[in-house]
Amino acid sequence: MTLGTPGDTEADAAKRASATAAVALVENGMRLGLGSGTTMKFAVEALGRRVRAEGLQVRCVATSVRTEDWARADGVTVTDFASVERLDLAIDGADEVETGSLRLIKGLGGALLREKIVAEAASRFVVIVDPSKIVGQLGERAPVPVEVLQFGHEMTERRLAAIAGRPVLRLLDGSPYVTDNGNLIYDCHTGVIADPVELGHRLGAIAGVVGHGLFLSGVERVLIGEKGGAVREMQRAG
Ligand code: A5P
Repeated sequence: MTLGTPGDTEADAAKRASATAAVALVENGMRLGLGSGTTMKFAVEALGRRVRAEGLQVRCVATSVRTEDWARADGVTVTDFASVERLDLAIDGADEVETGSLRLIKGLGGALLREKIVAEAASRFVVIVDPSKIVGQLGERAPVPVEVLQFGHEMTERRLAAIAGRPVLRLLDGSPYVTDNGNLIYDCHTGVIADPVELGHRLGAIAGVVGHGLFLSGVERVLIGEKGGAVREMQRAG
């Protein structure tokens, strides 16, 4: 029988399990990328525990101000790309994981742009999720977040509407949500995406778009935590 952590919901237990499994991959001296979101909170806590218990030495680039704050509070060293050239391993959550291809939708937490920069800088990219994130095809459940410049965002919205379903300006407490980079986000309700590569190209070709939440390559493995504490590993098919 697996004894859970007091206070954890079933979803928390699943997230904690996947996060702890990913942190077990960390080795002394590694340069790490730390993603954002509630699953990553458990990963940062687990990393902090290893730093304190084992004297593990790592240097981390955080993908959001919030993750950076969590890391510092847990005694994890935070650095930036002025100080590290490459990352050995990036760990991050996801909003959808496509079975087989391991393609992702990310960015419901708003950190998609920094998350993509960090994922691309890493030799290994490991994704941590609970089973609710696994889909047969991208777009089944989550919208595609698209980060846009504030200048002319109404024009950008019209261009998004022409290619990416129904764009909805993300709000926070009734006002436009502003990213750590000072930009806005449109959540594009596409429905199932027939050709994510084509959509990614078309989104990237819009001048006001600074980033989108389609992560279409580079995932090494996905660690899926179960509520009982077990972890299933998903590799890319073929
Ligand atoms: C943050 O911008 C996102 O890409 C997160 O990785 C994603 O939303 C997963 O977050 P949770 O772990 O909170 O579900």
